[in-house]
Amino acid sequence: MEKREQIYEGKAKKVFLTDDPDLVIVDYKDDATAFNGLKKGTITGKGVINNKMSNLLMQKLEKAGIPTHFVEELSDRETLVKKVSIVPLEVIIRNIAAGSFSKNYGVKEGTPFEQPTIEFSYKNDDLGDPLINDYHALALKLATKDEIELIKKYAFAVNDYMKAYWKERGVILVDFKLEFGKTSDGTIVLADEISPDTCRFWDAKTMEKLDKDRFRRDMGGVEDAYNEIMGRLS
Ligand code: TMP
Repeated sequence: MEKREQIYEGKAKKVFLTDDPDLVIVDYKDDATAFNGLKKGTITGKGVINNKMSNLLMQKLEKAGIPTHFVEELSDRETLVKKVSIVPLEVIIRNIAAGSFSKNYGVKEGTPFEQPTIEFSYKNDDLGDPLINDYHALALKLATKDEIELIKKYAFAVNDYMKAYWKERGVILVDFKLEFGKTSDGTIVLADEISPDTCRFWDAKTMEKLDKDRFRRDMGGVEDAYNEIMGRLS
C-alpha cells in the first residue's frame, strides 16, 4: 500500500491518501490538546498507545457485530482504514457522572447512572462542539433519522461490550466519545479512535484516573497512566 499526500491534520492525527481511493492511512501523533485546543502539550508515546489500543478494540468490536473503519495496522503509529466522510457528531456515552456532565448539571463526579446516557455534540471547533439533540442533528442535516438511530444502536452496543471488557481488566469505563463515518457506499461505520484520549478509565480498586483527564487537569503522571491502561489490554 503506497502512502500518498496528506489530506488532513487534526489535533492528534494526520491522514494520508493511498493508491486505493477507498483506503487512507491514519498516523497518530503525541500532540495533546484540551478545551478546544486552548491547552497544548505532548504526551510521549501516546500516538503508539492510541493507535494500538484503538486497533485492538475495533477488531474486537467488529467481531461483536459493530462495523468499523479498521483494515490493517501498518506500524506503531500508522493504520490503514476505510476512507469515510465523518458524520459531524461527537457521540458520548456515560455510565457514571464526570466531566462536563458533572459541571453542567451539578452532579458529583463518580455518581453512577441507573442506565447509560447518550448525548451528541455538533463536531465544529469554531462553535466549540455545542451539545445538541437528535432534532438539531436532523435540522442541521448532519445525518438522516435512520442513520441517527443506527449510530445510537451501535454506540450502546460499544458500551455494553467495552464495559464488560474493561471490568475484566479491573477498569471502570466511566464515559467515552465515538465518531462514526460513512464509506463510499453509504455504510455507517465506527471511525476515529477509542483511546485514553477519548475515554475516561478509572482503576476499579484505587479509582485512580488512567486517561487524558490527568493532562486536562494537570494531575501529573500522564505518561504512566497511558502505559498502565495499555498494559491492562490483552
Ligand atoms: P466531557 O465530560 O468533557 O463532555 O467528556 C466526555 C467524554 O468524551 C470523555 O471520555 C472525554 C471525551 N471527549 C473527547 O473525546 N473529545 C472531546 O473533545 C471532549 C470534550 C471529550
